[in-house]
Amino acid sequence: MANKTIYRLMLNGFGAVGQGFAQILRDQGERIAQREGVELQIVAVATRSRGCVYNPAGIAPAALLDAIQTGSLRDLEGARDCDPAELIASVEADVLVEASPTNLQTAEPATSYIRAALERGWHVVTANKGPTALRYTELKALADQKGVFFGIEGTVMSGTPSIRLALEALAGCEISELRGIVNGTTNYMLTQMEQGRTYDDVLAEAQRLGYAETDPTGDVEGHDAAGKALILANVLLNAGLTLDAVECSGITKITPEAVTEAAAAGERWKLIARVWREGEQVRAQVAATRLPVSHPLAGVAGVTNALCITTDLLGDVTLIGAGAGSVATGFALVSDILALHRLS
Ligand SMILES: NC(=O)c1ccc[n+]([C@@H]2O[C@H](COP(=O)([O-])OP(=O)(O)OC[C@H]3O[C@@H](n4cnc5c(N)ncnc54)[C@H](OP(=O)(O)O)[C@@H]3O)[C@@H](O)[C@H]2O)c1
Repeated sequence: MANKTIYRLMLNGFGAVGQGFAQILRDQGERIAQREGVELQIVAVATRSRGCVYNPAGIAPAALLDAIQTGSLRDLEGARDCDPAELIASVEADVLVEASPTNLQTAEPATSYIRAALERGWHVVTANKGPTALRYTELKALADQKGVFFGIEGTVMSGTPSIRLALEALAGCEISELRGIVNGTTNYMLTQMEQGRTYDDVLAEAQRLGYAETDPTGDVEGHDAAGKALILANVLLNAGLTLDAVECSGITKITPEAVTEAAAAGERWKLIARVWREGEQVRAQVAATRLPVSHPLAGVAGVTNALCITTDLLGDVTLIGAGAGSVATGFALVSDILALHRLS
């Protein structure tokens, strides 16, 4: 295809997600360029401790991935030691690809990075739950004011297009409720407990497999799912809720006996993030819930995620797919850039 549009990208954060994004560009960049008419050119990368790099001529994704294997970006052409905020303020780019760590209490420093990029007239795509859950309305308004795109697909269900499905494909419908399995770690644990195993045993296994962190609190107490419930409420139902409005409990009190009892009644335990309209209000909750095995969410096993969207014109629409992973989440960022390209 002639006349490809070039997007100059700054990656903020080059961990699992940033590297998954770079792998997609390394392995599929040419196909994407041919099919979509866009060239995605990384010109800058910021990390917290592994150095930063800026090369206006473009940085090959393969070179970045090779460099990070050595533990640092400091040997690349254009390497510099600076703060991510300094890089955002000083380089020339079109899109900030934000993949730095999530903070669900303050949404910082990512919100400041995103704000600075939007102020510069850059598009922003992010997988970061903090700014999306806590600051979406403000950041979207700033993006609109600047005439740029703010993409958040990767914040819920990674690259599985939950946000885009609800906002675009279901645009003519009224959504009254969303119920989702949005945390793969806890769904894996509950699925394993159905084999008669104890909570401690399956948690240790989830940690061994890398599904659960050494400190698993964010997953098992439901906080990660609560952040995603807040995003669904605020982005899709325009609720304006804060995190403390999400009633939140996790799976720590689920015993093997409770799992057996549910099975005997033809039900399964699932950690469900639920947002729904109640009169003029929107409510949000995360709770372990018994679902009949016939329910579409009951059949979702292992680390897979799912979202059931209740609409007026279609009834229930259920989406099932990946909820995490470096390439799956990197793809969400690619899909947001392609979405912004289609809008331009
Ligand atoms: N992993 C997933 O499957 C997944 C799925 C959905 C959403 N997400 C979200 O995507 C984001 C990235 O996740 P990840 O798994 O890639 O995390 P990660 O592997 O921990 O990588 C984080 C990256 O951000 C850098 N960083 C740390 N603090 C920073 C700061 N203050 N400013 C700029 N960069 C900073 C880190 O630099 P150093 O290497 O120097 O520490 C590292 O390069 C998070 O917000 C996460 O919640 C992840």
